[in-house]
Amino acid sequence: MSDPWKECMDYCLEVTKEAGKMIRDALQRDISIMQKSSPVDLVTETDQKVEELIISSIRKKYPTHSFIGEESVAAGAASVLTENPTWIIDPIDGTTNFVHRFPFVCVSIGFTVNKEIEFGIVYSCIEEKMYTARRGKGAFCNGVPIKVSGQEDISKSLVLTETGFKKDPEHFRTMMANMESILTIPVHGIRSPGSAAVNMCLVACGAADAYYHMGIHCWDMAGGAAIVREAGGVIMDVSGGPFDLMSRRLITASSRAIADCIAKKIQPFPCGRDDAE
Ligand code: IPD
Repeated sequence: MSDPWKECMDYCLEVTKEAGKMIRDALQRDISIMQKSSPVDLVTETDQKVEELIISSIRKKYPTHSFIGEESVAAGAASVLTENPTWIIDPIDGTTNFVHRFPFVCVSIGFTVNKEIEFGIVYSCIEEKMYTARRGKGAFCNGVPIKVSGQEDISKSLVLTETGFKKDPEHFRTMMANMESILTIPVHGIRSPGSAAVNMCLVACGAADAYYHMGIHCWDMAGGAAIVREAGGVIMDVSGGPFDLMSRRLITASSRAIADCIAKKIQPFPCGRDDAE
């Protein structure tokens, strides 16, 4: 059967390598930091330049395709997923890590057609790990196949989540209560690497057994979702229902048993949708 999206993925790989080099080069210089929605929602000139590089390169080759990019949306572009082939881009996932030179910083790109993710690329560019996955064709890190741990017992699992400033005190309390609820199962531990896409790749390669998060965006999830799925992982909504790329929340795990257990243990808090009017 022909594979119409292979050429797009090959091209994406080249652009991603270039973007990763741009980020590594920027780490050698002073980083000037700007604020977005809050004092802990950061952006740098590099986020903007890397997104410009990615979108302009891809648009030149595929002028009819659509784009959802973190920095373009921050600048007012629409964030609506349609049936059209769509590139969902986070130029630097882990901007706070980048600012601190904490080494989990990646370029994340997911490609959808008819709202289905066809492939994902996550380049953890300081570690120089290139994670790739195409629908039905497996997941890889630097060309070597990867798979989830297969762990089914939550009490033997390492769980990832992210803690962030929450403006609403009620949301903050729920986030902390959720961590307590998971830690007291008990699990082996909770970790917060600081990049949603890297977190998903850590589950995909078996270094962690689960990751849950509420309040992230489609550009944080699209690339990693392809990778964790193709590595044999489960990805679903925090309610236990099907994963929804625009819902701003997810649970991903090495097995359905662990994902279901997390869904039962955590309380959702409202975080809106990426495609809300
Ligand atoms: C952030 C990272 C982080 C998560 C934040 C995201 P960004 O993405 O994925 O892990 O806790 O919610 O915004 O802003 O660095 O692309």
